[in-house]
Amino acid sequence: MKDRFLPAEVLKNMDLSVRLNRLQLKNPILVASGTFGYAREMSAFVEFEKLGGIIPKTVTPAPRPGNPPPRTVETASGMLNSIGLDNDGFDQFVAEKLPWLLTLGTSIIVNIAGKCMDDFPRMAEVLDGIPGIAAIELNISCPNVSGGVDFGTDPALAGQVVKSVCQSCRLPVIAKLTPNVTSVVPIAQAVAEAGADAVSLVNTFQGMAIDWRRRRPVLGNILGGLSGPAIKPLALRIVWQVRRAVQVPIIGIGGIQSLDDVMEFLVAGATAVQIGTANFYNPGLANQLITELPEAIQSLGATGPGEIIGCLHTQTTSK
Ligand code: SIN
Repeated sequence: MKDRFLPAEVLKNMDLSVRLNRLQLKNPILVASGTFGYAREMSAFVEFEKLGGIIPKTVTPAPRPGNPPPRTVETASGMLNSIGLDNDGFDQFVAEKLPWLLTLGTSIIVNIAGKCMDDFPRMAEVLDGIPGIAAIELNISCPNVSGGVDFGTDPALAGQVVKSVCQSCRLPVIAKLTPNVTSVVPIAQAVAEAGADAVSLVNTFQGMAIDWRRRRPVLGNILGGLSGPAIKPLALRIVWQVRRAVQVPIIGIGGIQSLDDVMEFLVAGATAVQIGTANFYNPGLANQLITELPEAIQSLGATGPGEIIGCLHTQTTSK
């Protein structure tokens, strides 16, 4: 990195593209699965073609009704959800939602979850035959379904899922990991060794809310996943720990709602980021952050995102 300032025109045209092994993105700002629906409802608020990518809501082989209500509750600086992978199923997604998503002029990363190991390669094989998909994100980390987290909490199982998907399709593969483990590092290591192009860090933290007057849990499912600004320091810590230990590109997720947040994740070691909970109250945020990003990159004396990824100085100065 050099100490230099770029003219406004150069800044506006800064190359923001990033590469995560086989996946190339036009910029590092994506929208997270489960916070953007299947994009149609965001049409009035978002310039899709400017986004680094869209990750639609997780699809499962068969339709799922999801968990009983209430399924969301606001918490201090965050929210809990217990949706339970409510979706219309893989066939319906492929026939009715995917064709339109693929016209939006940005990278579409299809997020899939399975009940059993074989579900993942079966869906991946079908996606492999559809032109235009940028990558597959494996949701092995949903805290709201039984079985969902299990693949992602065991390094061997997580590695097996990734390996089976890599063997059944040629698309780049991203593993979305859970923070609900003692350490994410061995799981990131296992999926990287199994062939994952990148890891998304992190899915939600398991939590609960209680209505003490009624002596009842607030969520119908009792437990839910915590997201939003409340988890940002935890997510940053995990991104940094994985970055130090494992050679795999990272997509940072966790409470991003400002340009400072984006920069913190990049400096900690993320190659890209996903905007999640903030989409619910500011759907135009991702577009805004992409516009603001070049100036922040330049303020560090860099000419593109690649120069700042993982540039955190951690040595303390002795007095
Ligand atoms: C859900 O549908 O329960 C949320 C998705 C997830 O946490 O992976």
